[in-house]
Amino acid sequence: MKNILVIGATGQIGSELTLELRKRYGDDHVVAGYIPSALPQGILKSSGPSAIADVTDRQSIEVVCRQFKIDTIYNLAALLSVVAESRPAMAWKIGIDGLWNVLEVAREYNCAVFTPSSIGSFGEATPRVNTPQDTIQRPRTMYGVTKVTTELLSDYYYTKYGVDTRSVRFPGIISNVTPPGGGTTDYAVDIFYSAVKGEKFVCPIKEGTFMDMMYMPDAINAAISLMEAAPARLKHRNAFNVTAMSFDPEGIFQAIKKYVPDFEMEYSVDPLKQSIADSWPNSLDDSCARNEWDWQPQFDLDSMTKDMLEKLRVKLNINQ
Ligand code: SER
Repeated sequence: MKNILVIGATGQIGSELTLELRKRYGDDHVVAGYIPSALPQGILKSSGPSAIADVTDRQSIEVVCRQFKIDTIYNLAALLSVVAESRPAMAWKIGIDGLWNVLEVAREYNCAVFTPSSIGSFGEATPRVNTPQDTIQRPRTMYGVTKVTTELLSDYYYTKYGVDTRSVRFPGIISNVTPPGGGTTDYAVDIFYSAVKGEKFVCPIKEGTFMDMMYMPDAINAAISLMEAAPARLKHRNAFNVTAMSFDPEGIFQAIKKYVPDFEMEYSVDPLKQSIADSWPNSLDDSCARNEWDWQPQFDLDSMTKDMLEKLRVKLNINQ
């Protein structure tokens, strides 16, 4: 990786990934790709180059690749699971027509491509506990359909054209910089904001609903480590199971309560979010990622909770 384009650089993952890549590869070598409705701001804008890179407009991707001699693309453009259910055509347009555009440009300009998949790529028929790397993937959500298609199309471009495509199946990602928007796992971010603001949290997901989760620094490390991995070691490509922890709402509530003893939570289950969550695994087996590129998360529930609370208090200027 010498010159990198991050598509979706102002989103939840992109905003932090871009800065980390700049730290490691040099500010001038990492282009923050954005769409006009989500302009880079602050440090993201000032620390390096940025350019319009709209996956639905192939030419815009091509122009950036040519201008900056891009050799690696992180394609993070997607609608999350809940919003994709209300805008399925848009989810497909961004997730799959967009991916096609990225892969075509990558083929022409010889770029490696990282496009995340998700725990959403599984479905009701998938073994739920310790979900294997290679297993049934028959999701019924549009988000899941686009993620399975992402995996297949990315593999296709690798076997057919030799495009260096790689991917992970991200679990719910918890972060304190840019909030996620429209995902099923968003509650695990929102709960921290309530805790820090001293508000009661109203949880949209039922007690006992376990999902895999990961703290953002680990998610970023996963994306970078996989792209840096020696290709000869990779038996899989699109996409690796990765996880750092699995909890239900009660588990994260108790973890926060350890540091915020007065914290309160009540349940008001959102039927759409719940039905999506019920179709996803409880816990992933990520041994292939550990064996093939030494995946190893740093944060567990307790260390993440402590760090999230500290960072959010600073961000929201709340002393406690
Ligand atoms: N965080 C995503 C969602 O909830 C899952 O990959 O949609």
